[in-house]
Amino acid sequence: MSIDPAIEADIAPRPRLRIPMHLGVIMDGNGRWAAARGKRRTEGHIEGVKALRNLVELCINYGVPHLTVFSFSSENWTRPKDEISFIFNLLRRFVVSDLQSLIRNNVRVRIIGSRAGLEPSLVRLIDDVEAKTEANTGLVLIVAFNYGGKAEIAEATRRIAGEVAAGRLAPEAITEDTIAAALYTAGLPDPDLIIRTSGEQRISNFLLWQAAYAEFVFVDENWPDFGEASFIRVLETFSRRDRRFGGIEAERS
Ligand code: IPE
Ligand code: IPE
Ligand code: MG
Repeated sequence: MSIDPAIEADIAPRPRLRIPMHLGVIMDGNGRWAAARGKRRTEGHIEGVKALRNLVELCINYGVPHLTVFSFSSENWTRPKDEISFIFNLLRRFVVSDLQSLIRNNVRVRIIGSRAGLEPSLVRLIDDVEAKTEANTGLVLIVAFNYGGKAEIAEATRRIAGEVAAGRLAPEAITEDTIAAALYTAGLPDPDLIIRTSGEQRISNFLLWQAAYAEFVFVDENWPDFGEASFIRVLETFSRRDRRFGGIEAERS
């Protein structure tokens, strides 16, 4: 009996995939995806949300426990007003329309970033989705919204300085753990893998402190084109990386 080569390729054993404990994704290239198709940038953002839904499902299916997605940076305020309000409305709609399915899928949502400067109704919505998914025990979905890594470190520093000024903390007692605990990501493991789409190879102020030992994988596709095939390719690349953490032996998975 002969097997169709296409089927054979499909059932060929894959090298064992290393699953990241915490995947960070810089979802870049929505505007270029749209421009390449003669569409408006906003249409790229709509497609970007579809790719995000798909990614959440992939993380659930492949057992990735924590996923942080960069959806709006503190530097994105320099964009035209119309685009900013479109992105904000998309976030609102995502939260409202996907809440039931996130709850059904046992997803816990956390929104990180500065709440200062956000409309009170948006802050209420964010608080609401966090509260309604708080007891969930599956995927932790962290949405970095109005987020900047430098601003996060500055905010943490202000909080720690306040503790020192109040006499509750001695400067000598400040450790890396003190700082980590004052960041938005307190209690979460650091990302071990960060993906950026669209061919850009920079961090753009994403998880600066937390990315100290992350593996980076840059892919050329724009964010709306990032699907399961790309996800598996990235995990295969990650699986081949030697992570040494300053030592000489690679970490064994
Ligand atoms: C990423 O896509 C989404 C946000 C930054 C909000 P972009 O909007 O940056 O798309 P490009 O990089 O201009 O193609
Ligand atoms: C990073 O993308 C921020 C998000 C994906 C939300 P940008 O498009 O804002 O980054 P730069 O300007 O190319 O560095
Ligand atoms: Mg961009």
